This record gives sequence, structure tokens and C-alpha cells, in this order.
Amino acid sequence: MKIFLDTAEIEEIKFAASLGVIDGVTTNPSLIKQAVDRRGGSINMEEYIREILRASPGPVSLEVISVSYERMVEEARRLYEKFAGYGEVVIKIPICPSLDGENNIYDGLRAIRTLSDFGIPVNATLVMTPEQALLAAKAGAAYVSPFAGRIDDYLRDKVGMRRGKDYKKEDYYDFELMGALEAEKLSRVISSLELDSLAEAYLDERVRSAAALANDSGIYSGVDLVRSIMQIFANYGFKTEVIASSMRNARQVREVAELGVHIATIPFYVLKEMLLHHKTIEGINAFVKDVVEPYRKIFG
Ligand code: E4P
Repeated sequence: MKIFLDTAEIEEIKFAASLGVIDGVTTNPSLIKQAVDRRGGSINMEEYIREILRASPGPVSLEVISVSYERMVEEARRLYEKFAGYGEVVIKIPICPSLDGENNIYDGLRAIRTLSDFGIPVNATLVMTPEQALLAAKAGAAYVSPFAGRIDDYLRDKVGMRRGKDYKKEDYYDFELMGALEAEKLSRVISSLELDSLAEAYLDERVRSAAALANDSGIYSGVDLVRSIMQIFANYGFKTEVIASSMRNARQVREVAELGVHIATIPFYVLKEMLLHHKTIEGINAFVKDVVEPYRKIFG
């Protein structure tokens, strides 16, 4: 599995690259904003992006900022022309850039098709369903980015958990526990209703809403979203690579690696979390303490 660093912070990119464990970088407008804010708003953006490209050992995803087909294609070409000479540029296009669910719905797909035909690699971003990923792949996207963490947020919100109060952004979402709770609730709802036929139960609103609680149209977690996309791409031999995105903790990275996902893009704090375990720290303390003199002498 390749690991991309999900950041626009140059120091993090340089450090992670020096460790030899990352294969690329993904940015988005919010990550760029964080980097600019950290520098008090003053930054030479073009030079900064060139620095990111020089520091990254592989592809760097840069996102367009508009939502219409024409503007996205123009911005993508501009980004590509300006920066492709400094590293491997990939253009992030939102899969459905509609701001109101009415307009510009197809503009992402159209832009992916046009740019891919020009030979500009596209990373279809903000992918929240397997169906969106399938369409992005058919339109020619080189990469799709399913936002696993945001789907976990959505599922927790759906059952009434509030981010910041009941859970933190970086908390692991235990979808197996939630699935078991959902099944239990559904069975309690069904038994309380004393419905006569299967059809009556299947059509009952209370049954249907209990069955729809902890899933998003049959997707049970962010990792489940990644699994479904991997399965669909394998079924049809799509070349599009899947970037497990919006990764929030080390266990999520493990689970997408178990699925065989092509790439996981992770924030720097997740990289650190992947390395830490209290028993490793306890162990190294004991080893350091137990070094005896004759053994130390070998090292001069
Ligand atoms: C990467 O491509 C995404 O932009 C990023 O992973 C989103 O992560 P977030 O949901 O934690 O903001």
C-alpha cells in the first residue's frame, strides 16, 4: 500500500519524506488555508507549491477552486501548466460540484472526462458512495478519494452522536459494535409491533427507519465504503486507484490496508500514531535499563 501525506504543511512533508515512508501528498483548499494561516496569511503560494512538489517523492494532488465545468477545466490546465515541471501533479476535481443539489451536478464528471482525455491525471474527490466512484472511474479518473472519516462522522451523526461532545474527530468508529446494536434495536422494534405478515413488517415505517439507522444506503462505515469501491473496481478491472481519504486514526489505516487499498492518505498525526504503542515504550525503557557493562563495551 502506498501512503500519501494529507497535508499542505511543507515541514511535515519534508520530514515524512526523509523517513522514506511516504509516496505522495494530497492537499485541498482547507489544508492550504491551514498552512497559510499558520504563516499569518503571508505566503508566496506559487513558490510554496513548487517546494511541496520538490519535497514529495511522488504525486501531489492540487484541487481546483471553482464548481463549473469551464472554470474547473481552465483551473486544472493552469495548475498543470504552472507546476507539472516541478513534480508529479494530479488535479483534484470534486465528483459532484453542485452547491445546491440542482446545478452543476454533472460538471465534475465532464471535467474528469475532458482532463483525462488531455492526459491530465485526475483525483476525483469528495467521493461518499461507491456509485460516485464507479462513475468517476468510467469518466477516466486516475484516482478516486472516498472520504472514509466523513462517512463515519455521518453515521455517528445519524444515530444522534455529536462530534466534539460524544466523540472526537480522531476517534475510531466501531462499526461492528454499532451494527450489532442496530440489529438488536431492529429486532426489538419488530417484536413490539406484533405485525401479521412479512410484507406488513417490511413496509412499516418504524421498522424501515430502525433498519436504516446505522448505515448509509447499505454502507456501514468509511472502511466499508472503501471495501465496496475496491470490490467494484476489481469486478470490472478498472485501472483507477483508490485513495482511502479522510483517515482519522491508525486502526482505520490498518483496516484499509487489510482490504488491499492502493493508497491511504493520512495526516501527519496518524503517521505518528501508527508508530506508537505503550508496550513498545515500556519495552525500550526496560532494554535500555538492562544493558550490562560487558555488552556496552562492544560498542566502544
Ligand atoms: C484528502 O484527499 C481529503 O481532502 C482529506 O483526507 C479530507 O480529510 P478530512 O475529512 O479529515 O478533512
